Amino acid sequence: MASLYHRARVMTCAGTGVDPLGMIADGAVLCEAGRVVWVGPDEDADAACRALDVVAEERIDLGGRLLTPGLVDCHTHAVFAGDRSAEFALRARGASYLEIAAAGGGIAATLVPTRAASDADLQRLTVDRLVAARATGTTTIEVKSGYDLTVAGELRLLRVIARAGAQAGVNVVPTLLCHVIPPERKADRDVYVRELAGVLVPTVAADGLASAVDIYCDEGAFTRDESELVLRAARDAGLGVKAHVGQFSDQGAAELCAALGALSVDHLEQVSDAAIAALAAAGTVAVMLPGACVQLRLPPPPVEKLRAAGIPLAVASDLNPGSSYSSSLPLQMWMATTHFSMSVEEAWLGVTRVAARALGLSDRGLLAPGARADLVAWNAEHPAAIPYQYGANLVDRVIVA
Ligand code: NIG
Ligand code: FE
Repeated sequence: MASLYHRARVMTCAGTGVDPLGMIADGAVLCEAGRVVWVGPDEDADAACRALDVVAEERIDLGGRLLTPGLVDCHTHAVFAGDRSAEFALRARGASYLEIAAAGGGIAATLVPTRAASDADLQRLTVDRLVAARATGTTTIEVKSGYDLTVAGELRLLRVIARAGAQAGVNVVPTLLCHVIPPERKADRDVYVRELAGVLVPTVAADGLASAVDIYCDEGAFTRDESELVLRAARDAGLGVKAHVGQFSDQGAAELCAALGALSVDHLEQVSDAAIAALAAAGTVAVMLPGACVQLRLPPPPVEKLRAAGIPLAVASDLNPGSSYSSSLPLQMWMATTHFSMSVEEAWLGVTRVAARALGLSDRGLLAPGARADLVAWNAEHPAAIPYQYGANLVDRVIVA
């Protein structure tokens, strides 16, 4: 069945030059069999249907609302059990993330309840978070493993992620995340890292459980050399490469990621000028995570330098129980446009087309023939309204496929 969404202010996110958002004031989008088949001015819609030999059985009048691509959240840790609100309260009183982690909190504190949770319970918790993300406009969401950290446990989390996506009615992109060295493997960390590179990564690739591997290269997590071993294994196995880089300190992983042709480097509060040049040359996306940055009271990344170097900027929620417990991309857009000094246009592209690129996907995050028919209609007329009215949910309706 074909559907025509019309009387809309269409934002294609496929624009150029002075109109990067590709706005069509009185626009329409024609969809058939889960794909966009035509986008253009409303007055041309009937002629387009005839030319394409498509009968629009369903015509949806959007009453002048803003119509955008479904949002793409390219960095989340949505699969976990347990509660760390006590850490939030400690930080509110001045404790730092690294202090809490060194005292046994942090990622290690989420391993225990996640390992203990049944498949069914983990799936239910994850579905609830995906449904919440969808309610604020997200139609594709990357979900990282990383809260079990045994080989069998990480494979289990990746399977749960895939099932949760199918149940929640959003597109899920599972990523294997090598998060930290788990407490019980600190004594033989070299053996553990070789296990990741030699067993876990190849198994994930062979079983088709993820399309990319991420590693957290920072203080208290993996070193640059450990990251290289794991990411090279990922590349050799045909998987995409990404990394959590420079949230607390610059370990030199951004240069490594550029050399490996990484899809993205994420966080980047601390990054050298040389790394920025290397990332620009490699075409790697920089994923901004303003929620985690604000919550941990970190200095913002050097957005101006990244922009000047021509690095594509994505914006993601970093949904996780420690540093950013929110699945709302509109809220991240607010922080991106205020605390990170990104323009409204940059923020929109950051949660649509550039976010898709950070996942290695070109069939979403924009409205153009051939793209997935994932759309959001907003109770707003102007793109700026979404970050401007922060904390409000302006979503009118979400359409997936
Ligand atoms: O992206 N930096 C590593 N991972 C998360 C935090 C995870 C946690 O604290 O549970 C992040 O901020
Ligand atoms: Fe993260």
